[in-house]
Amino acid sequence: MTKESPLLLLGNLPAHLKLSPITINRPNAPQSNPYRCYNKPNPITATVSSSPPDWLDSSFQLRVPLVDVDKVRCIIRNIVRDWATEGQRERDQCYKPILEELERLFPDRCQESPPACLVPGAGLGRLALEISCLGFISQGNEFSYYMMICSSFILNHTQTVAEWNIHPWIHSNCNSLSDSDQLRAVSVPDIHPAR
Ligand SMILES: C[S@@+](CC[C@H](N)C(=O)[O-])C[C@H]1O[C@@H](n2cnc3c(N)ncnc32)[C@H](O)[C@@H]1O
Repeated sequence: MTKESPLLLLGNLPAHLKLSPITINRPNAPQSNPYRCYNKPNPITATVSSSPPDWLDSSFQLRVPLVDVDKVRCIIRNIVRDWATEGQRERDQCYKPILEELERLFPDRCQESPPACLVPGAGLGRLALEISCLGFISQGNEFSYYMMICSSFILNHTQTVAEWNIHPWIHSNCNSLSDSDQLRAVSVPDIHPAR
């Protein structure tokens, strides 16, 4: 999101957290580091390890608790609803009534003094963005770093529509009827957030 945008997502990311999410790759780019997952009985203490890629400072140890890995997987699936064409129907069901109500309550919005709207628990930020597109000063409030890292990535680093290919269901075969369901790629975002 550009500085001029009325959308603000709270939260500052430590510089070292700006690492590529595991399954996000630019189309046609060389594949990033493969990772190994050791399932251990206790998900709180169990970790995922990976060999550091060449560009990563060797002092940075990648030992991620499985609970955190699970949160990341969950967020990768959530990206589909908030930021993919495939999520449009679901967005219409849950966000449209809110947007319509805001339009009804604030029919006379002027650019000089726009009404402000806070989105508590803004998740991946799509609702906050849609509200800002309606002409509100929109502020998303979110305390999960996982959500913020992802929304910041999409809002601040997108250059083109469908810039990123993700494989949201690759980590689980639950509800997959075929391998191709599980391996299916989704392009995100469906819009350019800053335009
Ligand atoms: C059920 S999720 C919904 C996320 C988003 N609104 C959506 O529809 O995808 C609730 C969100 O609220 C966030 N949250 C819960 N309590 C919060 C708090 N006290 N301050 C900021 N965010 C909070 C959680 O991290 C989570 O992302």
